Amino acid sequence: MPGESLRPEVAEAVLHWYAAAGRPLPWRTSLDPYSVWLSEIMLQQTSVKAVLPYYRRFRAAFPDVSALAAAPLDDVLREWAGLGYYARARNLQAAAQRIAANGGRFPADRAAWRALPGIGEYTAAALASIVNGEDVIALDGNLMRVGARITADDGDIEAPSTRNRIAGALRAILPHGHAGDFNQAMMDLGATVCLPRAPRCDVCPIRDFCRALATGAPVAFPVRSAKPARARRDFVVAVVRNDAGRVLVARQPDRGIWGGLWVLPFAEGRRWAAALPALEEMAATPLDRGSARSLARVEHGFTHFIGRYTAYAAMSARAPRGHRVRWVDPRVPGVGVPVPHARIMRALPR
Ligand code: ADE
Repeated sequence: MPGESLRPEVAEAVLHWYAAAGRPLPWRTSLDPYSVWLSEIMLQQTSVKAVLPYYRRFRAAFPDVSALAAAPLDDVLREWAGLGYYARARNLQAAAQRIAANGGRFPADRAAWRALPGIGEYTAAALASIVNGEDVIALDGNLMRVGARITADDGDIEAPSTRNRIAGALRAILPHGHAGDFNQAMMDLGATVCLPRAPRCDVCPIRDFCRALATGAPVAFPVRSAKPARARRDFVVAVVRNDAGRVLVARQPDRGIWGGLWVLPFAEGRRWAAALPALEEMAATPLDRGSARSLARVEHGFTHFIGRYTAYAAMSARAPRGHRVRWVDPRVPGVGVPVPHARIMRALPR
C-alpha cells in the first residue's frame, strides 16, 4: 500500500545489486575527496555519459586541488567549455582556493560541504555520504523516481511534500555506514534500470518490493503536473573575420551564465539594425553587415528558454581595441567558448 513503510530488504537488495552491476566510474575507484567532489560538480545538471570525457581531461589538466586553485580562471573555463552552466566552474575554483587555503583539507561533514561555493543541499548530501560516510540521503532525480515508484507515491513529484515523503521513506531504510553506496546504487538503478519511460522491471533487483509495478503501470509514477513549454528567444550574432580568417570574440563579464567565456558579439532581438548598438559595444568597434543573408543559425536549449542564434557576416571599419576582445581560430579557439557560439564557429565556411 502507498504510505506503508519500506522493508529493509529493499536496501539490502539494492546494495547487493550495486556490488555486481554498479557502473565502474573513474571517481569510484578511489574515494579521494578531490575526484568525488569534481565528479559531483560536473554531474550537476549533466549526465554521466556527457561528463566522462570532461572529467578525464579536467583531471589531467588539474591533477589536484592546489593545481586547480592556482590555475588562471581562463584555463579552468577552457577545460570546462562545452559542459555548460559555467558558474559551476567559477564556483569550483573559488571552492578549491578555500580548500587550498585550509591546508588542502576537504570538508568533514555535510554542513561544511554546504558552506562551499556551488554546493547545494543535494550535492552536500552526496559528498558527505560518499566522502565522509555520513548517513544522509542524496535525493537526486533518480532517487526521486525510484522512490516514487517503490512507494507508489502519487503526489506531484515537484511538490516539496512529495519530496519529503520520499526522502523519509528512503531515510528509514538507509543502511547505517553505507549511505554513499546506497545513494550511488539508487542513482545507478535509476539511470540504468528504473528508466523514466521504459523501465526494465524484468531485471530490477527490487521488483518484488515495487508498489508501482504491483499497480501494473509503473510508468504512471512519478506523477508530474504539466509544465508550460519553454519560450524561444532570438539573438543576432556578428561574425567579424580578419584577413587570416580568424574571428573576433569578446570576453563576457565575470558574472552571468557565460561569465568569463569568450563569445561572438551577440545581442537579443531578431533584426540586425536594432541589435547593432549592442553588437558594436560588445565588439568594441563600429560594424557593417556584410550581407542580408545569414551565415548560420543555431538553436540551443537552456533551462528556461530556447535560444535561436542567427549569425551574419560583419565588417569592422577599424581594428577593435581593448583587452576584452581578441581574434581566434574558429576551429580551435583556444579559449572557453559557450556551446551555441562554438557551433556557429564550426558551421562557418572556411
Ligand atoms: N550523479 C550524480 N552523482 C552521481 C554518482 N556519484 N554516481 C552516478 N551518478 C551520479
